[in-house]
Amino acid sequence: MSGSKNATRSGNRAAENGVSPRGRYLRLLALSLGSAAVFAVLFYLWGRELFPRAAGRWGGAFPFVGAVALTLAVALFLSEWFGFAGREVRKVRLAARDFLFLCSLALLLFFAAKAVIDLLAEIPALGRGVPTRVYAYLIPLPAFAMVVRVLINSETSILFTVAASVLSAAAASGSWPALLFLLLSGTAGAARARRVPDRYRMLLVGVQTAPVCAVAAAALEFSFHGGGGVLWAAIFGAVNGLLSGPIALAVMPVAESAFGYASDIRLMELSGTGNPLLSRLMMETPGTFHHSVVVGTLAEAGALAIGANPVLCRVAALYHDIGKLGKAQYFSENQAGVANVHDGMSPGLSCEVILSHVKEGVRMAGEFRLGDRITEIIAQHHGTSLLYCFLDKARPMIRDREASEEMFRYPGPKPKTREAAIIMLADAAEAAVTSLDRPAPQEVDGTVNGIVNRIYLDGQLNECDLTLRDLHAVGRAIGQVLAAIAHGRVDYPESGKGAV
Ligand SMILES: [Fe+2]
Ligand SMILES: [Fe+2]
Repeated sequence: MSGSKNATRSGNRAAENGVSPRGRYLRLLALSLGSAAVFAVLFYLWGRELFPRAAGRWGGAFPFVGAVALTLAVALFLSEWFGFAGREVRKVRLAARDFLFLCSLALLLFFAAKAVIDLLAEIPALGRGVPTRVYAYLIPLPAFAMVVRVLINSETSILFTVAASVLSAAAASGSWPALLFLLLSGTAGAARARRVPDRYRMLLVGVQTAPVCAVAAAALEFSFHGGGGVLWAAIFGAVNGLLSGPIALAVMPVAESAFGYASDIRLMELSGTGNPLLSRLMMETPGTFHHSVVVGTLAEAGALAIGANPVLCRVAALYHDIGKLGKAQYFSENQAGVANVHDGMSPGLSCEVILSHVKEGVRMAGEFRLGDRITEIIAQHHGTSLLYCFLDKARPMIRDREASEEMFRYPGPKPKTREAAIIMLADAAEAAVTSLDRPAPQEVDGTVNGIVNRIYLDGQLNECDLTLRDLHAVGRAIGQVLAAIAHGRVDYPESGKGAV
């Protein structure tokens, strides 16, 4: 369905979350078959008049067979559409979970469209003055397109808008004005949902979509049916746009909890220090917490420099080292004023403890339901890089063939997204610059450049979409912030006089 690349990606994710690929596949298969059965029943109950009947003993079963056949045809259309795009469009890498989410959303919209049209036609007060066809302007596609853009990405939301428009227009007897309105309103909603860090912004997106929907509905109604229903069309179009914000806000938490997505709104909630995991990090490993906050600031600056997602960078950075919880004393940022526990340990054992913080972080992210975007960044933030600090200590062992250099590499995977790559760069740069004593700005710059070059030459950025221009811009942004942090304080006179 989604190509071997995506199958590998979902397989990796499954393995990371402790579920075997086979178990994950069987679960998805059961879920797909269950969903298909539910939709076949809904088609049968709601669209019985569409399907042919036949004479004879089994004639009564024909409408149900028709409903099953329609479900199969729709599933085939959706799998071909999203499958093709998933294989061929670079930014539409749909995992099985995304595919299932989009198909469910498209079918849900179809039944929502049918419910809107059927139920409103039943209301006598409306039935008299409003032509039934005008109810199609209330089909809530803008809200669903906004949800897809916020939870997945803009390319996928365009694909979803087209597929869902075709399906939902069927609920409005396949009329041209309905199809055109759905295509236009879905695109308008998705186009305005670029960055949605809070609920207010989501409501605002709906308000901005409303005039476009109203004008489109009025124009389409006038051009295809004359002036009779234009006012109602404009009103329904506007209401559709205005309601798209609240509907999207209602759908998103359900999608997040059922499919493991993390919207920017959810990320902002996770960034508060009232969050139990962050509180623990702050109380139990203050050095790691401080390091994570600084990495978050650097990563946010890096993301802003190249148009990546700054919210995801900042929040994922806060959690990137949660795997260190419970083993604080083994990590240098928590060792101020105490003896280094690694002095009494073999390099192999030290390395094992340090490397384990990635796996433990992924486990904790799953336990605390941080969502796949943060979990994947935790898994990728060291890529397959070498643990240089213990490598030198282990040189004699490597020479005597008691150990190999590969034992001192993180298990990966390498960063797959620009945000994961930015966090890898910010993390390494922060650690390197912190080890310098009151560095001059040129020294900070040189150190950051050295780190960026080392990571690039080590091949850690081979699997993400960062261009060389991006890499240069990210390195410069991180260097500027680190230089400001390193030289941001002016010494107070000892007496305290003169301090402002
Ligand atoms: Fe780390
Ligand atoms: Fe770190």
